[in-house]
Amino acid sequence: MEWTKEQRYRTMDEVSKEEIEALAKQVNRCPWRQSFHIQPVTGLLNDPNGFSYFNGEYHLFYQWFPLGPVHGLKHWYHTKSKDLVLWENVGMAIKPSNEFDCHGVYSGSGIEHDGKLYFMYTGNTRDDEWVRHPFQCLAVMSPDGSIVKMEEPVIKEVPRGYTDHFRDPKVWKNGDHFYAVIGAQRENETGSVVLYRSWDLKDWQFAGEVKTGLDEGFGYMWECPDYFELDGQGIFLFSPQGLKAEGDSYQNIYQSGYVVGSPIDLEEIELKHGPFHELDHGFDFYAPQTTVDHLNRRILVGWMGLPEIDYPTDKHGWAHCLTIPRELTVKEGKLVQHPVAELTLLRGEKVETSQKVENESICLDNFEGDVYELQAEFSESTAEEFGLELRVGENEKTVIKYDAVAKKVVFDRTETGQSFGEEYGTVRKCKLEAEEISFRIFVDVSSVEVFVNDGEEVFTGRIFPGENSNGISVFARGGHTNVKAVKWDLK
Ligand code: FRU
Repeated sequence: MEWTKEQRYRTMDEVSKEEIEALAKQVNRCPWRQSFHIQPVTGLLNDPNGFSYFNGEYHLFYQWFPLGPVHGLKHWYHTKSKDLVLWENVGMAIKPSNEFDCHGVYSGSGIEHDGKLYFMYTGNTRDDEWVRHPFQCLAVMSPDGSIVKMEEPVIKEVPRGYTDHFRDPKVWKNGDHFYAVIGAQRENETGSVVLYRSWDLKDWQFAGEVKTGLDEGFGYMWECPDYFELDGQGIFLFSPQGLKAEGDSYQNIYQSGYVVGSPIDLEEIELKHGPFHELDHGFDFYAPQTTVDHLNRRILVGWMGLPEIDYPTDKHGWAHCLTIPRELTVKEGKLVQHPVAELTLLRGEKVETSQKVENESICLDNFEGDVYELQAEFSESTAEEFGLELRVGENEKTVIKYDAVAKKVVFDRTETGQSFGEEYGTVRKCKLEAEEISFRIFVDVSSVEVFVNDGEEVFTGRIFPGENSNGISVFARGGHTNVKAVKWDLK
């Protein structure tokens, strides 16, 4: 179905209760609804927004177009949790309502101040010629959960030298000041990030463009920037659009990744850092956002999806979900990502096995499932390649393996079930030099998240297998390997 501009930009006031209920019914009949991931009640979810720990709970919002699986008039939808595992759908949080955000309440962040949670987000507007005019706006949430928008935007102008691609403020506090990074596009259509400074979150001064060591032309736009310090180092995370595929890297339509360096110099507005690393080597990952919680953990959530690709759930009236939360640590100039410890709360029935596998594929009989956590440790391998097949059924399987000759981890969804996004390839790889390989895998009804060697590398992907494709196999080719596998059903 073609969505017209009028259909994409209807406000919720124009939509009847019956229409929404009919859509929700359609969505709930979809066989690919997730069981432990945040997913939209109806319509399309994209970026995580406003991720914060506030008043004893985690609050996580997302970009939301309620009326269908397309990008249209964006709202913020609110979910919250006490443990990062069980999320409560709170409901609509911020909707377009005035001349500064009438074409979308776009992405932004949350920060606690004076006992309230402040959200700074981009108000997207379009004029009669459909030209964008972005504003940076504030909304404030009280401990009782009520959210009030500030009437006037806090940043009304795009600074000189930049285009109207200017959005996604991420705020943090350093000493007496608040700082915000905002994704920007220079007039020569190259991506960059700018810094603002404020005493009170309301009055913002442009500080300048952040100088980085990345080449000019490292993408044409940097979306969803995020800056934080971890273990004394400065980490700058962003989602550059326009990087060309290069070897195994940058295979998706858009990328997201980070650089690690010394803490940002807030006077010189400069970041000295090492190379750019992709955060996730899978197929469906974009626009991640982090927060720091009361336990001082730095936690990241991403959008498990990408723009401009049709997904098999579209015809059921919804699209996308968020990733599980990952705790970040830094090791030798790279981020390590661990599923947050609380995820073990989901564990139900457990099965385990130890096998020697040699030039064969062994189906693990009692290991069937479609919603589970699986840990597999491979040791004493001589095999050229070894790994796992998940969601195995007639002519279907999702493969996660180690190619010991090329020293690469491989995620292959060529035969995963219903195909989609194939124009971007069906195999993802990343280099990993290691003697021993372990996979910790979270499988939900229509997704796989693989943490390799304790979170050194991560692969995330949606999959759409048939309902009966639930087998799990281990295999080794060109030699043998020992595998110890443990699986928990997830509740
Ligand atoms: C990233 C993004 C952001 C923007 C939002 C709109 O996916 O394009 O830059 O704020 O989505 O939904």
